[in-house]
Amino acid sequence: MGVLIRFVVVIASFGLAVLLQNYRLLSRSLPAPQLNATQYWGPGSDNNYKEDSAIKPFDIRANPELIAELKAQLSRPLTLHEPLEGVGFQYGFNAKELQNVVTYWRDTYLPKWAESEAYLNQYPHFETQIQGLRMHFIHVKPQATEGKKILPLLLLHGWPGSVREFYDFIPLLITPNSKSDYIFEVIAPSLPGYGWSQSSSKVGFGTAQIAVVLRNLMLRIGHEKFLVQGGDWGSVIGSSMAALFPQNVLAYHSNMCTAMNPLALITKGLRILFPSIYLKQEHREFFRSFGDELSYILEETGYLHLHTTKPDTIGAALSHNPIGLAAYTLEKFSTWTDPEYRNLPDGGLTLRYTMDSLLDNVMIYYITNSITTSQRIYAEAWSTIQNDIERVHVQVPTACARFKWDMMHASDSELKHKYKNLIQSTFYKDGGHFPAMELPETLYGDFIEFVKKAGL
Ligand SMILES: *[C@@H]1O[C@H](CO)[C@@H](O)[C@H](O)[C@H]1NC(C)=O
Repeated sequence: MGVLIRFVVVIASFGLAVLLQNYRLLSRSLPAPQLNATQYWGPGSDNNYKEDSAIKPFDIRANPELIAELKAQLSRPLTLHEPLEGVGFQYGFNAKELQNVVTYWRDTYLPKWAESEAYLNQYPHFETQIQGLRMHFIHVKPQATEGKKILPLLLLHGWPGSVREFYDFIPLLITPNSKSDYIFEVIAPSLPGYGWSQSSSKVGFGTAQIAVVLRNLMLRIGHEKFLVQGGDWGSVIGSSMAALFPQNVLAYHSNMCTAMNPLALITKGLRILFPSIYLKQEHREFFRSFGDELSYILEETGYLHLHTTKPDTIGAALSHNPIGLAAYTLEKFSTWTDPEYRNLPDGGLTLRYTMDSLLDNVMIYYITNSITTSQRIYAEAWSTIQNDIERVHVQVPTACARFKWDMMHASDSELKHKYKNLIQSTFYKDGGHFPAMELPETLYGDFIEFVKKAGL
């Protein structure tokens, strides 16, 4: 017996030592990987490439022929299948609702396209060339105001979004008010391969490489130090910028925070298994149980696998196919705003957004023919270098704003394995994946509260 106990103690101590050793290794920050800040991503060879570093006003107006062609396409007889009886969006975009969208698009939206274009043009648009890519961005400078400090802010969208997500958010950021001592100089780029920004011609252009391009963009504009706010891919890219360039990123605010390093993932697994240990009672409703998480992944992340593996095939099905494009992208504005909207015949699309704002977003993909290139980011994001960046701790002030119906949430205990200066963590019992569009006032309130705490 004595021998057995001694044996168990030895084995257990050995196990504990291995665990501690690994924990120490895993909890350490990796050094930030060095990325080539001048790497060329344009077509062909860079032998004769001479970067045009000028910043030029950019005209976003679409070729009228493209609009006429769109009108023709929307006028063709639609041969969709009737949805199953009694079904809303559970099988994907409901065909009856799609018919309504097409009718509205053709008969109400397109006839006033000039107005929509003027609306999209209300902010100054610019272009400049970076690492072989034409980068498009909105740049709004606030008026200098007595007693208000101006801070530069990089706003980053994701998929299937665009700069259109920020149109109701920008006025709040630039207009002085009694709630904030700050006003913001807003720079909102189209991500490379999205909207009016050129896509990479080379493989290997993932979130880490995009972070390099966007830093170059901010430096080009003249901002050595700036804030970053983002959701979806914008959040991953923003986080990578904060990890790679702490000398430039003053603070990082995310409305879809993720932490993917090994300890964060282990903590996430434990949180899913033992929510009562890892989550405060009042936050539990934000997180799915193990079974629900599994169902959610199976039911709602098919697009992710598709884009990661064959972005160009699904891209071929959607390019120059406005109706498919609308169905494919607007479905996300239904389920990612509230998963319960799947049960509604119209997907609840206009409960939180106007049809005009949703179609503006579809139009940006359509007129720039960018759906295929927007999806390639999924294929390139899962790289070794991005994995390494996940293991670089973020030391700059960080905020995580959770909107109840977003696709996923991370708990503070997960985030703290990556974000060592998480100074704000909030839970809103409303809203989903696109808060800049859905609840701009709430997002703004959260953001200025964070900037105040960061003491910049
Ligand atoms: C960085 O990229 C540029 C352009 O693609 C290339 O000429 C240069 O050799 C690269 N530098 C390094 C250190 O790899």
